[in-house]
Amino acid sequence: MHIAFLNPQGNFDPRDSYWTEHPDFGGQLVYVKQVALAMAEAGHAVDILTRRIVDPAWPEFAATEDAYEGIANVRIIRLPAGPDQFLRKELLWPHLVTDWVPNILAFYEAEGKLPDAFPGHYADGGLAGVLIEDRTGIPFTFTGHSLGAQKMEKLGVSVDNVAKLDAHYHFARRLLAERLSMNHSGVTITSTRQERFEQYGHTAYRGAIDVQDNRRFAVVPPGVNLAVFGNDVANAQEAETRAHVLAMLARDINSDRRELPAVIASSRLDPKKNPLDLVRAFAQTPELQEKANLVLFTGAHNDPLRDDTGANPAAKQVLAQIREVVQSHNLWGKIATFALRGQPALAAAYRFLAKRCSVFALTALYEPFGLAPLEAAAAGLPVVVTQNGGPSESLRDAEIEYGVLVDPTDPADIARGLLRLLCDPATWAGFAQRGRQRVLDRYTWGRTAQGYLALIEAIVADPKARRPEKLLPIHPYFEEASAANDITLGELREIYFGVKQGKRDKG
Ligand code: F6P
Repeated sequence: MHIAFLNPQGNFDPRDSYWTEHPDFGGQLVYVKQVALAMAEAGHAVDILTRRIVDPAWPEFAATEDAYEGIANVRIIRLPAGPDQFLRKELLWPHLVTDWVPNILAFYEAEGKLPDAFPGHYADGGLAGVLIEDRTGIPFTFTGHSLGAQKMEKLGVSVDNVAKLDAHYHFARRLLAERLSMNHSGVTITSTRQERFEQYGHTAYRGAIDVQDNRRFAVVPPGVNLAVFGNDVANAQEAETRAHVLAMLARDINSDRRELPAVIASSRLDPKKNPLDLVRAFAQTPELQEKANLVLFTGAHNDPLRDDTGANPAAKQVLAQIREVVQSHNLWGKIATFALRGQPALAAAYRFLAKRCSVFALTALYEPFGLAPLEAAAAGLPVVVTQNGGPSESLRDAEIEYGVLVDPTDPADIARGLLRLLCDPATWAGFAQRGRQRVLDRYTWGRTAQGYLALIEAIVADPKARRPEKLLPIHPYFEEASAANDITLGELREIYFGVKQGKRDKG
């Protein structure tokens, strides 16, 4: 088959540039790339469609075509959408309608053949799928990754602040695009059952999808790249990373503590990843401080507790809160925060620190899936992870624990979870072994690709089989993106708060 992924946000290049350094270059790009590679490995021709960016600040994304080294049947295809410069994902909407989708159709027309199916990712890729399907009849799958209604809840959107937040995040466009994507898709793919029922069950999606309808959903979990994160592999950066970790421990950790295990956290400095409660757990628990150091891998920032230059405002706020706890509990000499760029370095650091009986921790307030702990588990680290979201499915099965699940808002519970692993070598080894085996058995990209391929074959054979009989109409803004027919705040209020507005208003 010929399969073309729709992923306008962020971008793709052979060096995986900016991964984890920008909110549009996170887990979703890893997901799309890995599923694409695994499908190609299974013999299919795969395109990753994204946006062409001609911007001196983002020089990697100017060419129309690109490829991954040594991989013959995956093309990265970048097509213009709006202005040349980089745009954050919230600003892409009108350009998808006016440029990106027409450019995709023109590109394949010039090649003489359209793909068999389009897996659409996030609301923006989903919307492109809706429009392409509308024009060509070629089916698409929709994978939301993160839905706008939950983001609105997290941001505390209310009738009072909705106008201000919508001006920045464009929730009206996003929610409408999500509703159309889940409604028109051949099938909607989630990573967990919980994602299906909790996220798609939000009232904002009422009338667009029925969470009880098994035809509309398929659960296909993502996977871990074992060539990078396996505990039995080594990459070109192994020795260099070991030396870097040791140098950073020597910089930040008191000399008599440098051999201790590490409690490792590795996520964006984002309030929703909640590193603060992990630091609080460490600060409030002397026994934890006796057993381990706290080591935060902080993306591109090398010593951000001392110098936060270059961090974005949200990261600066997180750092300020962490700094205050470190200061008030005098944790200097017990905590290290340093840059570790790219997956190979991260994997090498995990493998190195696993040999010291270290533990991986992720205390995010909510993790839709939670790939990072599975990557750490593959590399040999037992994990202590938020109980909210995907980890409660991936790391627990009835009574069997594959990782320690904790309440991320309760530092005492986090500390208890960490101490279970750090105090008893047999418990540490048991969790390390079970966690790794769980990944090998259930969470590989090969399995993810097989899941997609089976669904794609089914919807290509019968595009309407899993679709609702009556589809939602495409909003005029997504037919012709102009200020005159933009989605109004009144429409957003009606969808999100269920408030009837009567006639359309401009907010
Ligand atoms: O890759 C980063 C990611 O996980 C994407 O799935 C998505 O773009 C984003 O984070 C979450 O989006 P949002 O914060 O807009 O809900």
